[in-house]
Amino acid sequence: MARVYNFSAGPAVLPEPVLKQAARELVEYKDAGMSVMEMSHRSKAFDEIIRQADVLLRELMNIPANYKVLFLQGGASSQFSMVPLNLFSNSTKVDLVHTGTWTRKAMEEIKRYGTVNLIASSEDKNFSYIPKLDRSAFSADAAYFYICSNNTIEGTRYTSFPDTGRVPLVADMSSNILSEVMDVTKFGVIFAGAQKNIGPAGLTIVIVREDLVGRAMEITPVMFNYAIHAENKSLYNTPPTYGIYVAMLVFEWMKELGGVPAMQKINEEKAKLLYDCIDNSSLFKSPIAREDRSLMNVPFTATTKDLEAKFIKDTKGVGLVQLEGHRSVGGMRASIYNAMPVEGVKKLVGFMKKFESENK
Ligand SMILES: Cc1ncc(COP(=O)(O)O)c(C=O)c1O
Repeated sequence: MARVYNFSAGPAVLPEPVLKQAARELVEYKDAGMSVMEMSHRSKAFDEIIRQADVLLRELMNIPANYKVLFLQGGASSQFSMVPLNLFSNSTKVDLVHTGTWTRKAMEEIKRYGTVNLIASSEDKNFSYIPKLDRSAFSADAAYFYICSNNTIEGTRYTSFPDTGRVPLVADMSSNILSEVMDVTKFGVIFAGAQKNIGPAGLTIVIVREDLVGRAMEITPVMFNYAIHAENKSLYNTPPTYGIYVAMLVFEWMKELGGVPAMQKINEEKAKLLYDCIDNSSLFKSPIAREDRSLMNVPFTATTKDLEAKFIKDTKGVGLVQLEGHRSVGGMRASIYNAMPVEGVKKLVGFMKKFESENK
């Protein structure tokens, strides 16, 4: 069977050249005589892989030297706990903007150890927009200010980030890291599960400003302490070695493509193709405020539930898969991460037009 166009929200499509290179190197990696999966995480060959992944990510995101890059496990969900455990020292209050499922989960964890000062929420309109922020509501004494930069389920993203002054800005970038140019220096902590724009599930990337490392709460489990992982260069215990290797290949692929600015251009082109199709349709509709629409996750609906079911069934027949909306919101969702080729989006748009003409 040929490869399909996979619009999954995560784990998600990976660049085909990366998969092919991983396949070529699966049994024997370079002159190591073994697979990366079989290699000690303390070996010279693996050390080169993790160092190279670090160097490439720093280059791609322009990460300054005073930030640590950690290659961890536990998914983005572990960061919902790790961030408060590591950043609550003088203050246990968090300013938070509530924009959907993933900020709710983060909020639940924060409340185990501290309090949330809700700066704004878009719950009143089903999380279909990013709220405008009133600076006078920001707390000068918050431990950090928390946002989710791209809301994977709801399909919104920040197009600019709040200026939080001396309070560190913390962002869950799981679903739009490396998709557009962002200024890392605006953030205290950035974290992301790898399984969307970076590599296989099981690897979690944390980018943390040095001054925020080393002040974890007493109760912090050793595996949840940023300082332990930073001191040990992500090798305190066995890291997700194969995931780090694939991430390195993805970073190489992105660099060859022209880095994040080139990726952003392609992502904007793909998103425009899809949103234009939806906006010019009388059958499909986007529930999301135009100015806040995600470049990565595009939820849309059809005029009836029956047509939505038919659309999902028919798309599968032509090799366009995983277009079901999240179980909590229904409808459809096309996730068009970095590795989704423009051709995949063109094929989807072509199919949507045909479907509309046949189902008026
Ligand atoms: C924005 C966002 N945050 C957090 C998560 C949870 O990630 P994980 O499954 O790696 O814990 C997801 C997963 O889809 C996500 O999209």
